[in-house]
Amino acid sequence: MDRIALFDTKPYDRVWFDKLNTHYKIKYLEPKLTEDTVSLAHGCRAVVPFVNDTLDKAVIDALCDLGVEIIAMRCAGYNNVDQKAAAGRIPVVRVPGYSPYAVAEFTIGLLLMLNRKLHKAYFRTRDFNFSLSGLVGFDLHGKTVGVIGTGKIGQIFIQICRGFGMEVLAYDPYPQKDKDYNYVSLEELFAKSDIISLHCPLTEDTRHIINADTIAQMRDGVILLNTSRGMLVESEALLDGLKSGKIAGAGLDVYEEETEFFFEDRSETTKRDTLLSLLVSMPNVVLTSHQAFLTTQALHNIAQVTLENIDAYLHDGKLQNVVVQ
Ligand code: NAI
Repeated sequence: MDRIALFDTKPYDRVWFDKLNTHYKIKYLEPKLTEDTVSLAHGCRAVVPFVNDTLDKAVIDALCDLGVEIIAMRCAGYNNVDQKAAAGRIPVVRVPGYSPYAVAEFTIGLLLMLNRKLHKAYFRTRDFNFSLSGLVGFDLHGKTVGVIGTGKIGQIFIQICRGFGMEVLAYDPYPQKDKDYNYVSLEELFAKSDIISLHCPLTEDTRHIINADTIAQMRDGVILLNTSRGMLVESEALLDGLKSGKIAGAGLDVYEEETEFFFEDRSETTKRDTLLSLLVSMPNVVLTSHQAFLTTQALHNIAQVTLENIDAYLHDGKLQNVVVQ
């Protein structure tokens, strides 16, 4: 039986891989893939990393030395892969769109929670505090939302926003054709949006696309949503914006230094990232642990497409959903 290794495995990953796997011996590994743990892939034909695994040159060299034949990412993003190091040596495939609905719907959840202060109301009523003071929100109807990145997730997010009666401004260097919302420059989007939501990948162009300069261009009291990648936002500038009131609220499912903390219970640690601690302590921040993808449909699709990607290569010599070959 061919062996494959899943790194950074959580119980919810196992459920769907166990259900759908018919012919691999799966090594479920809890540690993240790093230079220190890569040897655990010994004897495996494929490795299956996730968003916060390390796939730098050292790890890719080690995977090649171990004779691993394919890196099958079980996620859409691949900004953690050193593509140059892999090119021509070991193919990298991914799951391009396992459930754009999961992420778009979660983003709306963050917006509603922040705007209507549901995070505060939930705790108040549990404490038999039925006061409404400090819980005033605003109607989303008629507000302008700026959407950066109109791919699979961004488009569904836009549809939902339009259902609320919101005006949409969009920015994407590769605009969709025949759409009934307006594409504008980034400057115009920053200047005219009441809410800004990031749905673009992390690239050299988008790293810190939200920074002190771009925050200064935004409307006072803007709400910022980031369910894409932490590095899109310069956290220190975000914190300054939140403190000054320029940014009225931030809904964050990602954080630029999330790797050490997200997906794990770190409640006992006193070695805390200072910026992360400050962000979660703000009353107008809702921060979740890279959770937007986490629905049964998405987990099913991730397991199914990952296994199909591996089968296609190992059994038919074909590459599908290729990142690097
Ligand atoms: P996609 O590839 O369908 O769409 C990305 C869009 O961003 C494309 O239309 C592309 O043209 C655009 N884009 C590229 N460079 C840009 C730039 N400089 N400025 C503005 N737009 C730019 O990707 P999809 O599936 O919609 O995912 C979007 C992002 O969501 C992913 O890159 C990933 O980082 C994130 N994601 C987060 C998850 C979570 O659990 N929080 C789960 C899945 C994805």
